[in-house]
Amino acid sequence: MTSSIRFLMCAPHHYEVDYVINPWMEGNIHRSSLEAAQEQWQGLYQIIADRANVDLVKPQKGWPDMVFAANAGLILGSQVVLSRFLHPERQGEEPFFKEWFEAQGHEVFTLPSDLPFEGAGDALLDREGRWLWAGYGFRTELDSHGLVAQWLNIEVLSLHLMDERFYHLDTCFCPLSGGYLLYYPAAFDAYSNRLIEMRVPPEKRIAIDEPDAINFACNSVNIGQTVIMNKASDDLKARLTEIGFEVVETPLTEFLKAGGAAKCLTLRVTEPLHPEPAGDKGIISRTVTMTGHLLDSGLVSRALDLIMEGGGSFQVMNFDLGEQRQSTSSAEIRVSAPDREVMDEIMAQLIDLGAVALPAEQQDVHLVSITQAGVAPDDFYSSTIYPTEVRVRGQWARVQGQRMDGVIVVAESEPVATCKLLRDLAVGDQVIVGYDGIRSVRSTKDRSRAAATTEEFSFMGSGVSSERRVELIVEQVAWDLRRLRDQGGRVAVVAGPVVIHTGGGDHLGRLIREGYVQALLGGNAIAVHDIEQAMLGTSLGVDMKQGTSVRGGHRHHLRAINSVRRCGSIANAVEQGVVTRGVLYECVKHDVPFSLAGSIRDDGPLPDTKMDLIAAQADYARLIEGCDLILMLSTMLHAIGVGNMTPSGVKMVCVDINPAVVTKLADRGSLESTGVVTDVGLFLSLLVKQLDKLTQRHVVTQA
Ligand code: ARG
Repeated sequence: MTSSIRFLMCAPHHYEVDYVINPWMEGNIHRSSLEAAQEQWQGLYQIIADRANVDLVKPQKGWPDMVFAANAGLILGSQVVLSRFLHPERQGEEPFFKEWFEAQGHEVFTLPSDLPFEGAGDALLDREGRWLWAGYGFRTELDSHGLVAQWLNIEVLSLHLMDERFYHLDTCFCPLSGGYLLYYPAAFDAYSNRLIEMRVPPEKRIAIDEPDAINFACNSVNIGQTVIMNKASDDLKARLTEIGFEVVETPLTEFLKAGGAAKCLTLRVTEPLHPEPAGDKGIISRTVTMTGHLLDSGLVSRALDLIMEGGGSFQVMNFDLGEQRQSTSSAEIRVSAPDREVMDEIMAQLIDLGAVALPAEQQDVHLVSITQAGVAPDDFYSSTIYPTEVRVRGQWARVQGQRMDGVIVVAESEPVATCKLLRDLAVGDQVIVGYDGIRSVRSTKDRSRAAATTEEFSFMGSGVSSERRVELIVEQVAWDLRRLRDQGGRVAVVAGPVVIHTGGGDHLGRLIREGYVQALLGGNAIAVHDIEQAMLGTSLGVDMKQGTSVRGGHRHHLRAINSVRRCGSIANAVEQGVVTRGVLYECVKHDVPFSLAGSIRDDGPLPDTKMDLIAAQADYARLIEGCDLILMLSTMLHAIGVGNMTPSGVKMVCVDINPAVVTKLADRGSLESTGVVTDVGLFLSLLVKQLDKLTQRHVVTQA
């Protein structure tokens, strides 16, 4: 053996599966054979020793995983970053490895004790020494990458591990000579895959499938053109051979039981030194604060989850727990991300949850000028239903026309910031891109309401609403309607044709007549069936009194449409005495504006139905402006449409027999909405009765 390449190994004298710290160890406690392990280890040792020098570190009793020398640390030249094991089960190995490194004359860097980093298990040098690939997500903390980059003066590319079975980077990723890469893409998130694809050209990427991955094919030792591994499929062997590698298989099944194989059992001591210093690692950190009923609302755990899922990591710097039931808590969270793009995605979601940048880190928004009408730059900030403030020229300004899925346009004069739809963008508009200088204002005033809302949703999630539950909501809605009418508030009703089919038309008509409704929104169908019922006594051909189909009834709705078309509009049909009752009749008679938005399945349509959907959306938006309460009655499409254009703070009540519709609206983030899974006709009849009761009580108290 003439090579200058060196490896460190640790004989398996004390090896066994003694505990479970990865999914491979599950069910394998004390199931490995020491004898077989010794033999397999010896086999690997021999293959490597034939091609390179092997140093040995003395195995220690009580530290069975010490055989996995890859986890000792990360060596580059004369420097070593010593591992900080995540699990106490392995922390005892640290001093023995440290001692060995020091004895070899290495300069040893040690990380803070609470910053896990599992050495070459999670840090793999590009075989040309150009950069370091580093894994995080299970054993190694992202923040350690920054220190490693600084200490070893090398560019670090952080990869987010997603599959528990591939908890160390070296279980699913193996850089090979000549810039090749053997890896299992499914073990990484989309962003990491993109990063890999940016650095390694397609002809150099050897992506493997799950069967090879679970045989630990990526856990290979690469020496020159030789790749040493536990096992490879014929296909993989052929692919590697074709590009000039020699595959040497050596069974390591006893070590697979602990979640390791060839690469894990070795630590390369002589790593290629990079030609020139590569600068430091671009890990970015931001600190945000969150305030509110953090525990009751589960806000902090949601925030932390989304940071992790988004590919970042966090440190909770401060957590001030509110002491009284009514007092709010506040948390200061330091978010780290491997780069700007990941950070932006995470920040966007944190802002939606109400997170605010520390005052010292606050910046103005970034603006880009629109160059093509109706088209925004790719990284535009998309708005939510929550009241939002943006920082322009050092001042926070409230966004006007708040709604979901809009773009924020900033102007020189008042109003400084306005929500606009993509299609309304004009050339020269200054739109906000990225997430700097944006904060959303979450109301934290009322703790009981926050709790009630959550409860509401768990109830909806389960899809069952007891009758008592429906009654309670009806009482609440009746109370709100009454109060809003007395105070001159605004209520909009969004209704689908089911309201008519289920016999709710009369009740809704009454609500309109009695002044409880200030706008009606729907599609063609509700108006058609309402008018059909008014004119012919049927709804979609079904007799509303008998509940049976009427002969020739299938034509009824067309006859209704035809009659209204003859008059030119619903209002004309009412004036001319063609329509003498019903929901639309009451609207016309009591000057309650209505808007009918068309769709592809509409028959007719009625002359009033707006088939230009952009005009219909604008009309809807106009009618819900300034609303205090929106009642959504059995219409998925129109309810969700309205949900999107309504800012938070407007109460929504969604009634539908289909729990999916109710939950869907909740999913849209309309947190103030209340869902009722029930028959809408029944709901309306209970509502009218409840209003009657309130009125009687009113009369009595006045007398
Ligand atoms: N049982 C060990 C652990 O879970 C296996 C380590 C494998 N080493 C590696 N570099 N992947 O820590």
